[in-house]
Amino acid sequence: MRVASLSGMPAKTNSILAVFRADHLKTASGMTGLELAIERGRSSAVRQFQALAKRIRHHIAVEEGFVFGLFEARTGLLQDGPTVMMRSEHRKILDRIERLGDLVQKGAPETSLAELRTLRALVEDHVSREEGVIYPACDRLLSPAEIGDAERELSPDRRRGRG
Ligand SMILES: [Fe+2]
Ligand SMILES: [Fe+2]
Repeated sequence: MRVASLSGMPAKTNSILAVFRADHLKTASGMTGLELAIERGRSSAVRQFQALAKRIRHHIAVEEGFVFGLFEARTGLLQDGPTVMMRSEHRKILDRIERLGDLVQKGAPETSLAELRTLRALVEDHVSREEGVIYPACDRLLSPAEIGDAERELSPDRRRGRG
């Protein structure tokens, strides 16, 4: 099966790994910023959490709705492929984000920090598999136009457009 490209425009970077790694790094710094805000009891913690949650939810939606589908179509790896585990890890990450959001809203610093540490460990483990296995394969399997489409899907403009 061939998945149609959205625009046919070439990518700026021509690398899925580079595009998603850059967003992983921004997520990591968002988690560090949130940790500092919670530790210092800053009122900005809620806003920082919301920005982080929006980034992660959008990132996961683009991975699942666009990149993983192309990977699965090109490799034929569906039920027993690596994206099954990635999708299941996404569910766990999204659950943790919900819990963290409740704790940050309540202003519970100790439990928020513990939850944030759990989230960070989950995310770090997860992205190491994406960057180590799935994205290098995607760079071999996807066309420059498809990589460009993924980059545009992940852009802040598309993230802002998401509820
Ligand atoms: Fe992911
Ligand atoms: Fe990712």
